Amino acid sequence: MIVGIPVESYPEERRVALIPASVPVLMKAGLKVQVETGAGELAGFPDAEYQEQGALLIPDRRQLFSSADVLLQVHGLGANRDSGLMDLELTRSGQAVVGLFDPLGAPERVAKIAERGITAFAMELVPRISRAQPMDVLTSMATVSGYKAVLIAAETHKRMFPMMITAAGTITPARVFVVGAGVAGLQAIATARRLGAVVQSYDVRPAVKEQVVSLGARFLELELETEKAEGTGGYAKTMGEDFYRRQREMMTTVVAESDVVITTAAIPGKKSPILITKLMVQGMRPGSIIVDLAAEGGGNCELTRPGEPVEYNGILILGPLNLASTLPYHASQMYARNVTSFIKNLVEDGELRLNLEDPIIRDTLLTHRGEVVNPRVRELVGMPGSASTIEEKGVS
Ligand code: NAI
Repeated sequence: MIVGIPVESYPEERRVALIPASVPVLMKAGLKVQVETGAGELAGFPDAEYQEQGALLIPDRRQLFSSADVLLQVHGLGANRDSGLMDLELTRSGQAVVGLFDPLGAPERVAKIAERGITAFAMELVPRISRAQPMDVLTSMATVSGYKAVLIAAETHKRMFPMMITAAGTITPARVFVVGAGVAGLQAIATARRLGAVVQSYDVRPAVKEQVVSLGARFLELELETEKAEGTGGYAKTMGEDFYRRQREMMTTVVAESDVVITTAAIPGKKSPILITKLMVQGMRPGSIIVDLAAEGGGNCELTRPGEPVEYNGILILGPLNLASTLPYHASQMYARNVTSFIKNLVEDGELRLNLEDPIIRDTLLTHRGEVVNPRVRELVGMPGSASTIEEKGVS
């Protein structure tokens, strides 16, 4: 079985789905690896390193697509949301593609992928169970984004982060407020602390208080009913507008006193809740910065424009997109580890085994034999019931 690694075509994407060090891992599992020439270049992995590890370089994209049985991508079959299906004509029926597909954000694309007879696996849908932890790309990429968000704030801010006692006077430390202490938020807290900032954080899941405190930050206690805030897999649930209104009221003072606010509060598959209103931004000091990591889901700040900086009353609001791609070396290393673990779980004796008893395979399987298989995506595109390929014929 041949695994193919194409050059990523998403605009400004610099990651690659497989790094040279992961090639021998797949070869040991009985697979051959073919890499499109230049696939790892932007991430810092030259062609020669892939060759040294036993991969075959293929200069022609069409040829790479036609010979691969399984394609590994960062953005599965995609350049972008508008023309993201441009690679589709290069695929063939029965081919498997593993990557990020944004299946809940762009479910209509999944239906198009199904029509081509492709077996697609969405890495975003890896379940949060212990066995799947080495495959959890959302955790890997959130780790990178949380770190980078702080660096962006530190680089852009007019003030320094650490406290300094010098002959020229004392510099007070920057005050950073992190809203949402999940994977990205905890990494942001750790990074801001390493730079010497005084950090506060809030999350609707009270269980994270201990982790926030262990990183040297203060957990903001708000008198809100949060017992039911945690859903399956440790993710937060939507709380309702009344809850968010009270949360905003209670956070107003902390936001106003902060030099940097980093928001990470996402609800999987849903629009991000607005936690910082225009009025709250008005209360901040000029020169303050908001980095909104929930921008992909619309943003946690009312003023966020995804991918575009906004200046309002001297306050800068940044909603960076695809942040993990800005640190492509380590983001690719982590992604490659995740995806090779996933492939090793999927392959037996050098062949794909679609064992739907395995929740990792069942939950990530998006399309198979011409049908959209994932129930959440089927619901979103208005397909009633379950896929017949899965129900009647079973899957081999
Ligand atoms: P996420 O990216 O979906 O959300 C980020 C954070 O925002 C979450 O901590 C969430 O509780 C918080 N949030 C949502 N609404 C909020 C609001 N109104 N105010 C303040 N905070 C709000 O989640 P992420 O970071 O991917 O994971 C969340 C949790 O999932 C982790 O902390 C962990 O407990 C669990 N997890 C489990 C894994 C496993 O079992 N394999 C792997 C990774 C995470």
